[in-house]
Amino acid sequence: MRHLLSAGDLSRAEAVEILDTTSTMAATQSREIKKLPALRGLTVVNLFFEDSTRTRISFEAAAKRLSADVINFSAKGSSVSKGESLKDTALTLAAMGADAVVIRHQASGAPHRLATSGWIRTPVVNAGDGMHQHPTQALLDAFTMRRHLVGGGEGGDGVGEDLTGAKVVIVGDVLHSRVARSNVDLLHTLGAHVTLVAPPTLLPVGVDTWPCAVSYDLDASIADVRPDAIMMLRVQRERMSSAGGGFFPSPMEYSRRYGLDGTRLAALPEHCVVMHPGPMNRGLEISAKAADSPRSTIVEQVANGVAVRMAVLYLLLAGGTPTEGSR
Ligand code: CP
Repeated sequence: MRHLLSAGDLSRAEAVEILDTTSTMAATQSREIKKLPALRGLTVVNLFFEDSTRTRISFEAAAKRLSADVINFSAKGSSVSKGESLKDTALTLAAMGADAVVIRHQASGAPHRLATSGWIRTPVVNAGDGMHQHPTQALLDAFTMRRHLVGGGEGGDGVGEDLTGAKVVIVGDVLHSRVARSNVDLLHTLGAHVTLVAPPTLLPVGVDTWPCAVSYDLDASIADVRPDAIMMLRVQRERMSSAGGGFFPSPMEYSRRYGLDGTRLAALPEHCVVMHPGPMNRGLEISAKAADSPRSTIVEQVANGVAVRMAVLYLLLAGGTPTEGSR
């Protein structure tokens, strides 16, 4: 693997290899072997042009647990606010000796530009670009699903398996969601059946060509699909105003028709896990009752995010299986 830019670039074999490596990383963490020497002497740069809590901190934790040095760069407070370009920022980081760059950027395609520009020669990991992709989020979601739906819970991770036949319902603001796009790509590759549920105004043009089913009716989808996992998406009100897109039903109307409340929680199959990538709008797309219920994997997803990012950095920087197709 040279870069990780899109979940859609991963073959089934590559995705399963990352999930299996994640299992190994998670096992070392649960045995309280907090630090592995695998990336000693290497430097990972976290280049964040957009806000983040989970992704930025977990990439930092992942790199440090593999003994890499970490440089955290946030656009806020940097020379980007004086107008410095992505190119000049990248050249500066290369001059400082980065061995890998993790980038989050508000512009879709920025990680691809960085990887293919020739400005830097290190692996690039997409930590979320605009409304496009968030591949490590999809990988941590798939790892969490595999653990619960295939592996029988923590410790039984379904190593070597994919998600063939799993039924996943993804609900909410698909239009603005790189998480939805990445999950549809990866879950399809892993053999799962995905149903997107959203108001028509929060679905992107061309969604009918995506490898999934689409519905406007959450109650009907819960009854008809009988999902193994339901993933609630954050309503991205900040992108609606800045991008000028996406009519937002009133919060009350949205919550009534698309929120996961106690009644809908009770209607889900008993084994169905409740997921959310975070950050959550509690009381809008998900009720506190659903978010904090025993079937919620939301906190576990965050923990699994560290192990997934350890696996990705390890495979990119410490050798792994060379798979150019995952660029
Ligand atoms: N899920 C996710 O990307 O969260 P952050 O924006 O906090 O990184």
